[in-house]
Amino acid sequence: EQTGIAILGIYVADTAYLAARMPVSGETIMGSGFSLGPGGKGSNQAVAAGRAGAQVSFISKIGDDPFGKMALQIYEETGVTPKVEVMPDMPSGAAFIFVNDQTGENAIIVYPGAAGTISAADVEAQRDVIEGAKVFVTQLEQPAKAALAALRMARAAGVITVFNPAPANSFDDACYAQTDYFVPNESEAAALVGFEIKTEEDARRAAEIFVERGVGTALITLGDKGVYIHGQGISTRIPAMTNAAVIDTAGAGDAFIGGFATSLSEGKGVEDAVRMGCATAGIAVTRRGTAPAMPSRAEIDALLGETA
Ligand code: RIB
Ligand code: NA
Repeated sequence: EQTGIAILGIYVADTAYLAARMPVSGETIMGSGFSLGPGGKGSNQAVAAGRAGAQVSFISKIGDDPFGKMALQIYEETGVTPKVEVMPDMPSGAAFIFVNDQTGENAIIVYPGAAGTISAADVEAQRDVIEGAKVFVTQLEQPAKAALAALRMARAAGVITVFNPAPANSFDDACYAQTDYFVPNESEAAALVGFEIKTEEDARRAAEIFVERGVGTALITLGDKGVYIHGQGISTRIPAMTNAAVIDTAGAGDAFIGGFATSLSEGKGVEDAVRMGCATAGIAVTRRGTAPAMPSRAEIDALLGETA
C-alpha cells in the first residue's frame, strides 16, 4: 500500500538579512537583523509536511559540513526521513535572502551546492521511496531533468504527483503530462504563459493553458489573494487565511505545498487540501524564517476551525 509523501528537492542554509531596502550595485547599507536557518524549497516543503503530521521522505544531496548538519537536525526534530546523500567533496547549498523590514517581502539568491548534482540516476536510486509514496512532490531548484525522471517514475506507479515549477527555471514540456497538481505562483505562471497574472481572470486563463498542456489541475498561488484552482471540473478561488500580522513571506509557497500534500496524503480532495495549504502558509508568514516558521498540526487545525 502506498503511504505518505516523497519529496525530491534541495536543502540550503538560508542566510536572511533584514533591511529597509536592497543595496544597489557598489553600495553598502546597514541591516536591521540577520538569521541563519534551514531552507531550500523541497526541504522546507518536507519540514512543513512533517510538522503537519505527514509521514515524509526527503530525497536530496548535501555536503559534509555545518550547513549539512543543520539539515539533518531539523529532519530529526520534525520527523522527516532523510534520503539524503552526503557528498564529501561538495558544499551544502546556501541562499541569500533579503527581507524588507517594513513589508516582509523578500528577494533571494540560491546556490544549490551538492544538490545541484542531483541526476536521473540519483532518482533511480530512490525508486522504492518514490513508488511507495501516496504523493510525490518536486520543484525546479535541482536539475530539471531529475524532476522529469521522478515525475515519470511516480506517475507510472500511480502516485499522485505535485509539481511546483519554482523558481521559474526552464523545464521539459513533457513534465506537464506527468503532473496531477501543477502549482506555480503568479510570476512563475506568468513566465510560462507569457502574460501577467493580475486578476482572478488572468489566473483562470493561465490555469486553462496549463490544463491544455496536460496537467490534471493547476493551482496558481496568488499570495494574500489565496489560490486559484482549475481542473477536473473545478474552477474556483480559495481565499488566503492568517491569524496574525504578516512579517516574512519567504517560504510561504513551501508551507502551502507542505500542507497541501499532507492533506492529499490523507485522502482529501483538492479544495480541502488547498485550504490546509492556505492555513499552513497563513501561519508561516507570521513568523521569521522559512523551515523554522512551519506550524504544527494543532496550529493548522485551530486556524482552519476559526475560518470554517
Ligand atoms: O521558497 C523559499 C526558499 O527558496 C528559501 O528557503 C530559499 O532557500 C530558496 O531556496
Ligand atoms: Na516565514
